[in-house]
Formats: sequence, structure tokens, C-alpha cells
Amino acid sequence: MSSTQQLPDVKTAADGAAIPVIGFGTGGNIREDCAGVVATALKLGCRHIDTARNYGTEAAVGEAIRASGIPREEIFVTTKIKHEDLRPPDVERSAETSLKELGIDWIDLLLVHWPNPAIPLADTMPALARLKRQGIARHIGVAKFTVALLDEAVRCSPEPLAANQVEYHAHLDQSKVLAACRRLGLLLIAHCPLRRGRLLDDPVLGEIARAKGKSSAQVALRWLIEQDNVVAIPASSQPQRVAENLDLFDFDLSDAEMAQIAARKRPDGRVAKPARSPLWDT
Ligand SMILES: NC(=O)c1ccc[n+]([C@@H]2O[C@H](COP(=O)([O-])OP(=O)(O)OC[C@H]3O[C@@H](n4cnc5c(N)ncnc54)[C@H](OP(=O)(O)O)[C@@H]3O)[C@@H](O)[C@H]2O)c1
Repeated sequence: MSSTQQLPDVKTAADGAAIPVIGFGTGGNIREDCAGVVATALKLGCRHIDTARNYGTEAAVGEAIRASGIPREEIFVTTKIKHEDLRPPDVERSAETSLKELGIDWIDLLLVHWPNPAIPLADTMPALARLKRQGIARHIGVAKFTVALLDEAVRCSPEPLAANQVEYHAHLDQSKVLAACRRLGLLLIAHCPLRRGRLLDDPVLGEIARAKGKSSAQVALRWLIEQDNVVAIPASSQPQRVAENLDLFDFDLSDAEMAQIAARKRPDGRVAKPARSPLWDT
């Protein structure tokens, strides 16, 4: 059984990236008052914010960071390059735009947002590595990469990668990608960790949550962050839920409970699956 004392609030990738285990996502339905809700998350102690060129939330994230008065180096900021911008000059332009929009001097983690079969990783990854060498991005990585794509990205990158951001929650088996992340020394950043809310009426989660005096969302998130190499980035537009999703450190899950929750995986569990998806590992 893992213990509450043993669970760190930061996990470290082999490249040295120290990433807070619970972040705050700014995709999806929080675009309306993004600055306000990010300000709430920061005030409540969250130090890991996830944005992307694609979300249109970089400016609001930057505004909230500046207004918080928290020293910049204490906040881990991830942003992402759109899949159509993966040619070297576009990679550079995208990172510069992100810096401007966010109003910050460096990006903590810069990710390829989606693989794009039309643009070779052998072109993209060296361009990303250059941004790391220039200090524009402290760490680099990918998102939505399958095991085969991850191996290729690592082979093509002159600098080590820190993370692969993929959908992961109790209804989706990601054991293959997670094993690859561990083998390569990467963290797996779990997006849609609540299955966009659809995980929360799961009866097994509900039963465990009731027994512990926590919510299903808290049990779902704790299940993720108790796993080696996994960190999670839930999103919520509601301040009380933002607080709830950060309040994960006063309980733990037994090995039996971890296994019971893992057994909830199902073949139709994936929620983020647009047409540009790669051929997922099953
Ligand atoms: N790399 C990628 O391609 C990719 C793809 C998708 C997402 N992401 C990232 O991952 C983040 C999270 O994913 P997501 O927003 O799609 O899904 P999610 O975090 O799994 O779920 C968000 C949904 O759950 C609800 N919710 C949040 N906390 C709750 C709680 N404690 N109790 C009950 N309901 C709760 C929210 O509703 P309310 O707002 O009403 O609370 C919202 O509808 C995104 O914001 C984004 O940063 C990345």
C-alpha cells in the first residue's frame, strides 16, 4: 500500500523536469473566465498550468500568473504547438508567439500537440531541441504519441524529452504507453483525467469515495497520481471543484483499491478521438 507521506507533490522526468503532480488544464469549457479560474487555482496552491496555442487561453494564463504575484520560477507552464505548425520555421514562430501571448520569458514544457504524419519528426524534433538549447523552452515533449511514435520522437530528438501528454483515466487502458514512458524516463501527463466528467458516476469510484469521505473526482485523480511517472491536469470552471481537485493529499488507496479502479477500463473509454488521431495502442 502506498502512503500519503510517500506521494510527492512533484515528479521528476529523466531529463530533470520537475512537474507538479496535479496541474490545471485550460482547454475545454473554461475559456470564458480563464484568467479568473487560473487565478483561483494559483491561489489554492496549484503550480502547474496547462495551455496550448490551440486553446486560445495563453493570454489569460499569462494575465493570471502576473496578477498572482507568485515568482515565475515557482509556476510550471506547459504550452503546445499545433499539429499543422510542426515544420521547423513554424515551430520557432509558434514558440515565439506563445512567449508573447503568455508574457513570459520561458516555457517550462513545450509539447508537440498532436503527431502529424505529413511532417517528419526528423524535422520537428531538432527544431524543438534548438528551442530548448536557446532557453526558450526548459523542457520539450510530445502529446498524443503512441509507443511507436514516442520511440521515433526520442530517436529523432537531439535533446531528451520530458513527457508525453495523453488521455488517461480509469476507463482507458494506457498500460502500453505508460510502460514506454517509464522505459524512456518520461512522465505521462494525463489529460481528460476525469473523462470529461463521464467517469464520475462510476459505482466503484463512488463506493471507494464514500468510504473515504472524498469525492469520486478525488479518488479518480488520486488513482492516477499514485502511479509511477503519472501526473494529471484536470480542468474545471467552478472554483469549489478546482479546490476539490487539488485536495488529494490526505488519503490514499490500497493496492486492492488501485486494482479495483484499474479494472474499470473499457474498450470505449476514450473521449478525445478526433479524425486526426493516430492508430492508438490498444
Ligand atoms: N493534449 C491534448 O490533446 C489534450 C486534449 C484534451 C485535454 N487536454 C488538457 O487536459 C485538460 C483536462 O481535460 P478536459 O478538460 O478535457 O477533461 P477533464 O479534466 O477530464 O474533465 C473536465 C470536466 O469535468 C468536470 N469536473 C471537473 N472537476 C470536477 C469535479 N471535481 N466534480 C465534478 N465534475 C468535475 C468539469 O466541469 P465543470 O467545469 O462544470 O467543473 C468539466 O466538464 C484540458 O483542460 C487541457 O488542458 C489536452
